Formats: sequence, structure tokens, C-alpha cells
Amino acid sequence: MLTRVAIEGHEEVWRVEDAETGLLGFIALHSTQLGPAAGGLRMRSYPDSDAALADVLNLSRGMSFKNAAANLPLGGGKAVILGDPATKTPALLRAMGRAIHTLGGRYWTAEDMGMSPEDMAQIARETPYVAGRDSGPFASGDPSPVTARGVLNAMCVGARHAFGDDSLVGRRIAVQGLGHVGWHLCRLLHQVGADLTVADTDAARVAQTCADFGAEAGDVETIHTTDADIFAPCAIGGTLNAATIPELRARLVAGAANNQLASPDAADALRERGILYLPDYVANGGGIINVAAEILRLDGGDRWVAEKLSALSDTMERVLTRARAEDRSPAYLADLIVGERLLRRAV
Ligand code: NAI
Repeated sequence: MLTRVAIEGHEEVWRVEDAETGLLGFIALHSTQLGPAAGGLRMRSYPDSDAALADVLNLSRGMSFKNAAANLPLGGGKAVILGDPATKTPALLRAMGRAIHTLGGRYWTAEDMGMSPEDMAQIARETPYVAGRDSGPFASGDPSPVTARGVLNAMCVGARHAFGDDSLVGRRIAVQGLGHVGWHLCRLLHQVGADLTVADTDAARVAQTCADFGAEAGDVETIHTTDADIFAPCAIGGTLNAATIPELRARLVAGAANNQLASPDAADALRERGILYLPDYVANGGGIINVAAEILRLDGGDRWVAEKLSALSDTMERVLTRARAEDRSPAYLADLIVGERLLRRAV
């Protein structure tokens, strides 16, 4: 069922197949230097298995940086299942649970795109190495609201740097993707008095968000071109690229999506246009902080999560301050600061 795939730069990568349930996926452990590799399970209709492998490799590497940025005793890992999330079955999830279990705790999973706490409950029938559950000891539930809270905190830090004021009252924010995180982010932004323009490939989610928070409906293809103060990518990765960056009108980009930059040069392209980009893995670390409280089986988890979120905002502040002082992109500085943390632990 598990076949090892040799990938330079990753500690372990496994192809997971189960003919009976139709499961095809990958589990990637980028690094266990800081602790067991932890990162969510994503289900998506990939064009082919090469695309799924590329995604899991990118995402698991990103998790090493995200967990280090949040100062968690966790390494970086990720898992993906190929397929439309609408077609998932308990049997398929349990097969993935068995695969995760064979890794003996070197990889811990939780929700990512296309997954819910109920899905984690299915996986938990086969393995204890799963978090983001709704019930059970230390259950932390859906991480998405905490991810959204972390993105909001990051936006306030970014707003201070971009606009000289951390208030979001009356700021227009264009939100791309209204799923688990995007919807909660809109909820929080509405609470603090921001104005919203929103887009999602799912028209029902757009209608719901407009009704819930008085948002304006934007177009899926052109949401990034909205005349807004802040663009918040909360759907898929790679949305900041050679085609979209010249079309952005917002001066600040801050969102939840993983791997927002299509390539490393995208960070410089944004900087050259005077657009402040908040490194995604620092902005969206709230969810893994919440999951970590469950993995680490912490009593008083809520307080610990709040302290870690506050420290994450301080890390964002440090990244943006150094980026400005050294005239580099925040993405470069985040990699430098977090890379130093990873190295320190390695020696
Ligand atoms: P989700 O699957 O609940 O929501 C994604 C939403 O994006 C869906 O409503 C989907 O219809 C929409 N969408 C897909 N393609 C789109 C496009 N081209 N334009 C506009 N909308 C599009 O996923 P979730 O959990 O909200 O995650 C969103 C992003 O945040 C992902 O990149 C995920 O990896 C990242 N993330 C999520 C965390 C969490 O706690 N759920 C934690 C950290 C990162």
C-alpha cells in the first residue's frame, strides 16, 4: 500500500494506494528536526499524480517553515489525496488513516482543503496520529477560525507598515475564497468594520457571505484586480504570479492560502510595485498552533494558543521591520529569520 519515493531534500515521501477504496495519495515528511512532522491532509482533483506529488512536496516544505515560524516543537509534513472531495468515503479516509499509522507517529495529520473534523474522526478510527478533531482528549476542533484570527492579526501588522495605521475600519478588502478560513476571515473583518468584496468558484458561498456580512460580490477571474486596500488570497496557491501581479490594485496582500507566490521572483515583483506581501506561512500559522495544542496534549490550550498567536504577530512585525530596513522582500526576510531558527535547532 505504501511505496517509498526518493526525493532529495525530503526525509521521507510515500505514495499511498489502496485499490479497494480507490485511494491514491502521497504523504511527505520534509523535516522532523524540530519534532514529528505535522501538517494537514488535502483532497483535491489534481490533473495527475505528478501534480499531486509536486503539491505535497511544496506544502510539506512550507510546513517546516510554518511550524518553525510559530516556534512549535513540530517538523514539516503534509498529505494529499487525489480526487474530488465530494466523492470521499469513510472507507477511503480510513485507508489513509491506516497509511498514516504505519509511519508510527513520525507524521501527524489534521484538516486542510477538502477536509473537515468529521473526516478526521474517520481517520482517528485507524490511528491516534490525527488532530483537529471535534471530540476526544484535548480535541481542538476545526483550526480554520484560529487561522482566520491569525490572518486578521497579520493584516493589522501589515496595515501599520503599509498605511501607517493598524485600524481596518473602512478599509476595503478583497477576499478570494470563502471556504473554512475565508468565511471566518470575512466574519472577523466585518466585526472590525472593514468593507468586503468577495469571490468564490462556489456561487452559493458568495451569496451567503454577501448576506451574512454585507459584502459585495466580485468576479472569480478578476477579484485580484479589485480597487481595494488589501487583497486576501484564501483559496488556492500560486495566485500571485506574472499575470496577476501587474493587475493588483491593493497595496497590501495578506491571506490564508498556502504557497501564494507562484515563484520566488514573485516576491520581488510585488516589492518593485510597492505592494507589501505578508509571507503566507507566517500569516496563516494560527491553524497549526491550534492543532499543536492537541498534538502536544496541552492542558489550558486556549491560553497557550493565544500566547503563540501573539508571538506570531511579533514575528511578522520583525519580518516586516527588517525587510524595510534591509530593502528586501518580506518573503526573503521570513525565510532568513525562520531558516536561522531551523538551523539553530539542527546544531
Ligand atoms: P476550503 O476548501 O474550505 O476553501 C477553499 C475555498 O476556495 C472554497 O470555497 C473553494 O470553492 C474556493 N476556491 C477554489 N478555487 C478558487 C478560485 N480559483 N477562486 C476563488 N475561490 C476558489 O479551504 P480552507 O480550509 O478555507 O483553506 C483555504 C486556504 O488556506 C488553502 O490554501 C489552505 O491550504 C490554507 N490554509 C488553511 C488552513 C485552515 O486552518 N483551514 C490553515 C492554513 C492554511
